[in-house]
Amino acid sequence: MLSVKNIDVAYGHARVLHDISLELEAGSMVFMAGRNGAGKTTFLKSIAGFMKPVAGSISFLGKDISGMAPEKVALMGIRYVFQDKRVFSNLTVRENLELAAYPVKEKTSQAIEKVMSIYPKMEKFLNLRAGSLSGGQRQILLIGRALVGDPKLLLVDEPTEGLAAGTINDILNVLAMMKGRVSMIIVEQNLSVVGMLAEKVYIMREGKIVQTCTSKEEITDKQRLEQYL
Ligand SMILES: Nc1ncnc2c1ncn2[C@@H]1O[C@H](COP(=O)(O)OP(=O)(O)OP(=O)(O)O)[C@@H](O)[C@H]1O
Ligand SMILES: [Mg+2]
Repeated sequence: MLSVKNIDVAYGHARVLHDISLELEAGSMVFMAGRNGAGKTTFLKSIAGFMKPVAGSISFLGKDISGMAPEKVALMGIRYVFQDKRVFSNLTVRENLELAAYPVKEKTSQAIEKVMSIYPKMEKFLNLRAGSLSGGQRQILLIGRALVGDPKLLLVDEPTEGLAAGTINDILNVLAMMKGRVSMIIVEQNLSVVGMLAEKVYIMREGKIVQTCTSKEEITDKQRLEQYL
């Protein structure tokens, strides 16, 4: 469904992604790991339309989306969950979902149902300010919000970063529940999370994909994965 072919991406004159290719099949959940500054976020942003590749191409469902504006990419069914976990803090959880539902002409009640389908506890928080949620709950709200409008591909940037161990479990459950429902590329540094969910892991280093792990054996072997990081 997604075909990235030999892309190079740069900030000004500084090229940070070099000749990256990736083919994603519908319904799959793949992970990407790599050191800080390796280019993981830049890669997701390139797919989501926030960065325009200087070489190569990206196509989605047979259509060339390289350089397409982010709002157009979103309308094609791709959602990017940013690394910064930023919600509208002063608005309630319900209002946050309302804002997501409006542009895709979905009812707020439907948006709420979507979040509840992955995290039933959210019902208790609907009328609370989103800023009062824990980091993990905010992340779940953001993932739930990205499901509004029935996207086909979710790009999730470091969902467990900075979260307490107990909350990481909540995220793990949410992601496990979404497996097969929507295709996902997840950037994740927590190798336990990767080991439990991944079907495929791409390791990025200095703007290149240096390793692709596909067997359960490779994916669950933390020591082996760590050596690439
Ligand atoms: N806005 C920017 N302007 C210039 N260079 C940037 C910008 N954003 C990122 N970079 C550089 O691009 C490279 C890749 O950054 P990127 O954020 O994609 O890495 P990352 O793998 O997501 O890192 P992290 O694990 O810290 O999130 C880094 O060298 C970074 O300094
Ligand atoms: Mg990043």
